Amino acid sequence: MYYIGIDLGTSGVKLLLVDEEGSILNEITKEYPISFPHPGWSEQKPEDWWQACCAGIPELLKGFDAGQVAGIGAGGQMHGLVILDEADAVIRPAILWNDGRTQEAVDYLNEEIGREKLSHLTANIAFAGFTAPKILWLRKHEPENFARIAKIMLPKDYINYMLTGVHCCDYSDASGMLLLDVEHRQWSEEMLAICEVTPGQMPKLFESYEVVGCVRPETASLLGLPEGVKVVAGAGDNAAAAVGTGVVGEGGCNISLGTSGTVFISSKTFGVDPNNALHAFAHADGGYHLMGCMLSAASCNKWLCEDILHTEDYGAEQEEITDDRLGRNHVFFLPYLMGERSPINDVNARGTLTGMTMDTTRADLVQAVLEGVAFAIRDSVEVARSLGLDLSRSTICGGGAKSPLWRKIFANVLGIPLDMVKTEQGPGYGGAMLAMVGCGQFASVQDAADALVERASTTFPDPELTERYETQYRKFHKIYAVMKPLFPEIL
Ligand code: XUL
Repeated sequence: MYYIGIDLGTSGVKLLLVDEEGSILNEITKEYPISFPHPGWSEQKPEDWWQACCAGIPELLKGFDAGQVAGIGAGGQMHGLVILDEADAVIRPAILWNDGRTQEAVDYLNEEIGREKLSHLTANIAFAGFTAPKILWLRKHEPENFARIAKIMLPKDYINYMLTGVHCCDYSDASGMLLLDVEHRQWSEEMLAICEVTPGQMPKLFESYEVVGCVRPETASLLGLPEGVKVVAGAGDNAAAAVGTGVVGEGGCNISLGTSGTVFISSKTFGVDPNNALHAFAHADGGYHLMGCMLSAASCNKWLCEDILHTEDYGAEQEEITDDRLGRNHVFFLPYLMGERSPINDVNARGTLTGMTMDTTRADLVQAVLEGVAFAIRDSVEVARSLGLDLSRSTICGGGAKSPLWRKIFANVLGIPLDMVKTEQGPGYGGAMLAMVGCGQFASVQDAADALVERASTTFPDPELTERYETQYRKFHKIYAVMKPLFPEIL
């Protein structure tokens, strides 16, 4: 049997073909554009996601016996607002997770409806990227589009809909809409009413590993798939990445270093951060998790290397950053290129480079960016530690984690060992594992993780370097405190 794992990311879709032993037989990436129609806004066309899947899946299967494919599971970028009309046509481009246009709606929800009530109804408060504030924004700014909504869904749910014809969503991804009663795993009718949305406009809810339907016959022939391939509900990309790195059940931690950066702490039981700085979401294994999310992580390094330094050779840029330079940089970077979510929740925050002198080198700037991202993740880690959670070890995954230097910086900034797993394919691999559970190969997500996920290597912190980074982290903190009141003035 084969399984297809889909990672519907922000820069592209990554498709994996996995056999029943969990070995990756093939992988294909197809990119698609992202548009920033105004500073701080970000949109993508759902049709582009689907086209990328249609181009990628036949390529993925080339040279393999497609008749062996039993199931498909997707992990997708969270929170994006996808709206379909009566005929199931996309009404407008999706408003993405890192879009900051909704501050007015966020203020209305947090101040007028009130944080306490939101947290009681949904276990979370409003953040600019969440889906509910986007619905309120649409109601006010595009009433004609709002009036046409027949179904609201999230990015990977659109792919599942195109595959199966079923309007579905899983609990982990639905948690980030601010419309789900996370603890009881059902839509909050009160939140739907606040957004003037009816239960009929919402997709049907499933556990991530449950089968929502089979690939439609006409779609199967388009993609080169046999009939009867099962599609599971899948998960938000962070929950899927946690599954893919074996962070399921009680107390595991995964750090994902992709376009966004997240700290994901898995739990069997429901719990809320009393200050709502960390998100309290459902997990793809049937349990729950707490999560901190920074909006620009590996994307900061991509921005610096590709847009500013005009190179795609990230490794070459890091060659000069030798051990003796670590923890001694005079240049600091605030990585807030799209504003910031966890834990500072500041849409006005902006990227900031400071501390340069005439002898500052290109490598110092690259190092500052790598360090700034690690310091910002540490902010979320500190929130988790203040709640008494055990963050003494973590897995790390995502494109950024492939850099040994960046892993070393992270291990020392956080002061903990960081494990890489053998199949470091994050959400796509997690999606394939969920499909295996849905198809009955494993009885539970935990069983799948126990059987398939293996640690490959560990980066240990060095006490002396950890101490140097402690001092640097304290300086980093002071810079945001000083800049914070200035940001709204320089927008
Ligand atoms: C999580 C979040 C991001 C996106 C990125 O809350 O917004 O991690 O899921 O794909």
